[in-house]
Amino acid sequence: MSRIFSGVQPSGNLHLGNYLGAIRNFVGLQEDYECIYCAVDMHAITVWQDPAALRSNTREVAAAYLAAGVDPKRSIIIAQSTVPAHAELAWIFNCVARLGWLNRMTQFKEKAGKNRENASVGLYAYPNLMAADIMVYKATHVPVGEDQKQHLELTRDIAQKFNNDYGAEIFPLVEPLIFGEATRVMSLRDGSKKMSKSDPSDYSRITFTDDRDSIALKLRKARTDADPLPEREEGLKNRPEAANLVGIYAALADLTKQKVLDEFAGAPFSVFKPALTDLAVEKFGPIGEEMKRLMADPAHVDAILHEGAERAEALAAPVLAEVKEVVGFLRP
Ligand code: TYM
Repeated sequence: MSRIFSGVQPSGNLHLGNYLGAIRNFVGLQEDYECIYCAVDMHAITVWQDPAALRSNTREVAAAYLAAGVDPKRSIIIAQSTVPAHAELAWIFNCVARLGWLNRMTQFKEKAGKNRENASVGLYAYPNLMAADIMVYKATHVPVGEDQKQHLELTRDIAQKFNNDYGAEIFPLVEPLIFGEATRVMSLRDGSKKMSKSDPSDYSRITFTDDRDSIALKLRKARTDADPLPEREEGLKNRPEAANLVGIYAALADLTKQKVLDEFAGAPFSVFKPALTDLAVEKFGPIGEEMKRLMADPAHVDAILHEGAERAEALAAPVLAEVKEVVGFLRP
């Protein structure tokens, strides 16, 4: 049986990259799969989070899922920390994953920066918890942006080693689902960096809470080169900022990049940017509005998360029991 799991960190500044690379893709998958979508609050605290902000940001991730079209009747929406099975399996995975594997994780290197001695142990073990999130439901497919690919390869390695070590075919080998025209949305200020929640510049990203004026301002200020748009997609090579804006347009309009260029070939950015602004306001604006509306009623969001936790717990419990049995833990 196929099952989907994915997660987003509630660390604030949810942005267009999170939407186009992941959240938007969650919606269509509900048609064909059983889906579990998670606000990964335990991952968020691998770097310092203000407690009140964490609570609000966790609800905000759930509200963003709902606003984008995740249906809580069909799919399960949870806050990670409310289903303790994730943490329990993560410990077991800490004992399966090898230091050498984690040492290769590029996200840790980026996030820890130069002062690695001062990074939390949680930040280092982060991918093991991510593997546990997925495997505690024996999920088979994970919709994510490009940047999570390495973590999913590690999830497969952990699953395989667990199965080998214990001589039991317990865990499936998960497949990433990376699709759409914007699997890696770049910063609006620097075409060589991905759009991220932690970039110090607000102008680097369009967020779910931006209104028309801020979307317009951020796109107006977005860095570009001086050339008009090319006729063919190959003409976007070595033009990272132009390629990024065309990719965003294509994803929002549900077109290929080439189709966008067919319409805008030869146009300067003074023409393309206002068109992109209109499109972003039309397609992304209402989702942000709906998210804000949902956030005005936290009790409603909490009730959905509460119900989600109960349903998720019911799916995770037999998997965890099976794992504990093969590992050799006594029954409680
Ligand atoms: P996070 O919170 O950094 O990002 C959430 C999702 O958004 C995608 N994404 C992007 N896609 C395109 N362009 C971008 N600039 C961009 N930035 C982010 C991410 O790829 C992701 O799909 N480790 C995960 C959270 C996680 C998870 C999981 C995901 C924890 N457990 C289990 C899948 C399955 C993360 O930090 O995502």
